[in-house]
Amino acid sequence: MKKLGPDDIKIRSYIYSLIDTARAKAILDIGCGDGYDLIQIAKHTTKHVRLVGIDVSEEKIEDARAAITDDTRFSFLLHDVTSGLPFKNEGFSVIFSKDLLECITNKGELIKEVYRILCPNGQVVFAHWDWDSQVIDGSDKNLVRKIVHTFGDWQQKWMSGCDPWMGRRLWRTFNSTGLFNGEMYTYVLTNTEFRPPYYGYERIKDFEALVNKNMITKEEYDTFYQDILNLSKNREYFYAITMYIYIGRKI
Ligand SMILES: C[S@@+](CC[C@H](N)C(=O)[O-])C[C@H]1O[C@@H](n2cnc3c(N)ncnc32)[C@H](O)[C@@H]1O
Repeated sequence: MKKLGPDDIKIRSYIYSLIDTARAKAILDIGCGDGYDLIQIAKHTTKHVRLVGIDVSEEKIEDARAAITDDTRFSFLLHDVTSGLPFKNEGFSVIFSKDLLECITNKGELIKEVYRILCPNGQVVFAHWDWDSQVIDGSDKNLVRKIVHTFGDWQQKWMSGCDPWMGRRLWRTFNSTGLFNGEMYTYVLTNTEFRPPYYGYERIKDFEALVNKNMITKEEYDTFYQDILNLSKNREYFYAITMYIYIGRKI
């Protein structure tokens, strides 16, 4: 299981605090990755809860299964959720998902499936970064905008779609279905130090991959990166990103 930095842990703890774990009998995590969230969420539940994770990546599902050893409350399923959710009607009291929807093209179909397998008055908790609105101070606004937006538009090979506005679009994605009553919550993560293990540092390092993909030039990245180093030396570096969370109840 990948070791998370303190910013990532803090943001996830905030999301877990919004989950109605006390009364949950069965919790599903869609796009569960290596199972980290489900394992943390389990710490706030009763001993009798059923915890199910589903993901299309064989490697992630293997990691998740290895992490839970012989805890029989958990099951992790290898499945592509674009072909539906392989569960009976109304079987889950909480359906959780973080940073999955951006890569799903037919979101409406998935949301209908979520509705079908959620029990009456069950809770949906869908969280997503809004990648396109990452805030980075820099000397050249156009260059910062170009790099942030190019990163957001980068459809990586494990994604069947790509929407860097998914955070801000959670509201309409759910509300347009008329199937849930919900509210939006936000968490703005800010960093003023440019060094590991801060979240902004890790993301700015990630941007370098755009050079290898020929999406920005090496010169553009180097100019941007040097500017960030200079700002950081003068204690002027600033990074922020917003996590959006839709919390809804089945109508
Ligand atoms: C950005 S990762 C988020 C993982 C985890 N929820 C987290 O926040 O740490 C997106 C996850 O969704 C999974 N995923 C993408 N498309 C999927 C699909 N069609 N069906 C099931 N899982 C999918 C990926 O394999 C990956 O584990």
